[in-house]
Amino acid sequence: MSMISTSLSGPKSATSYCAPEFSGLRRLCPNNNTNNSHSPSFLRFTSPRKPLRRVLAMAGTGQFFVGGNWKCNGTKESITKLISDLNSAKMESDVDVVVAPPFIYIDQGGAFTGEISVEQLKDIGCKWVILGHSERRHVIGEDNQFIGKKAGYALSQGVGVIACIGELLEEREAGKTFDVCYQQLKAYADAVPSWDNIVIAYEPVWAIGTGVVATPAQAQEVHVAVRDWLKNNVSAEVASKTRIIYGGSVNGGNCAELAKQKDIDGFLVGGASLKGPEFATIVNSVTSKKVAA
Ligand code: PGA
Repeated sequence: MSMISTSLSGPKSATSYCAPEFSGLRRLCPNNNTNNSHSPSFLRFTSPRKPLRRVLAMAGTGQFFVGGNWKCNGTKESITKLISDLNSAKMESDVDVVVAPPFIYIDQGGAFTGEISVEQLKDIGCKWVILGHSERRHVIGEDNQFIGKKAGYALSQGVGVIACIGELLEEREAGKTFDVCYQQLKAYADAVPSWDNIVIAYEPVWAIGTGVVATPAQAQEVHVAVRDWLKNNVSAEVASKTRIIYGGSVNGGNCAELAKQKDIDGFLVGGASLKGPEFATIVNSVTSKKVAA
């Protein structure tokens, strides 16, 4: 598995509730139970309950989802601060928040050489993995079929998949953006038994870590194409339910405009997820999809 994640936020319908409870990345609050495979944990940040709001700009029906992709960053000191900042941040309650720390900071003790198994991730309570990230595709050399296989296996073990897709700059310039994304989607579709526990992350490679964010229109154009692809190749129900999130230089300043796009159901955030208050701003960009009741 390329990255691991720990869900920090639970379903809005959760009956039991606990305040931010992170020490390192180990949950202190028991994961009581849930039938909702999208929201496996009851961990929450300190946001007070808000009145329900009318959703304005959402084509899909899934809850807003924001992932923090910490990649290979951080030290014990910086991660301790980040966790403390996240736990004290005020965040909207109706957002699924997931963070993906480097393996050795999972707070399990000991370091790992090389890869890690789904069984090990499950064993320490991880609920999600990030697969198909461009750094795995283009630096490590994972191909569509291999990524699909990993996705199928993770899902078969009950671990949710943040399934990344996205084109290189030269592919965009050659007018191949949709073709590349469709091929990547097909590889997942061929390998997974169901889409129930998958979030699709559209991450144009030219926008990742470059500071060059896709414009809201560029992102929306691909997101709507992805949703159409799901509708035509999987089912209308899956197209409506599946969260399609955007990643690539998302920050506190550009998230609100992106979030307003109908088919953007959240974000996968790299650099800005390493700053607790800025990450909270991105989580809270869900409000730009709504109006107060
Ligand atoms: P970035 O990374 O936000 O730093 O561009 C996004 C990602 O790699 O998921």
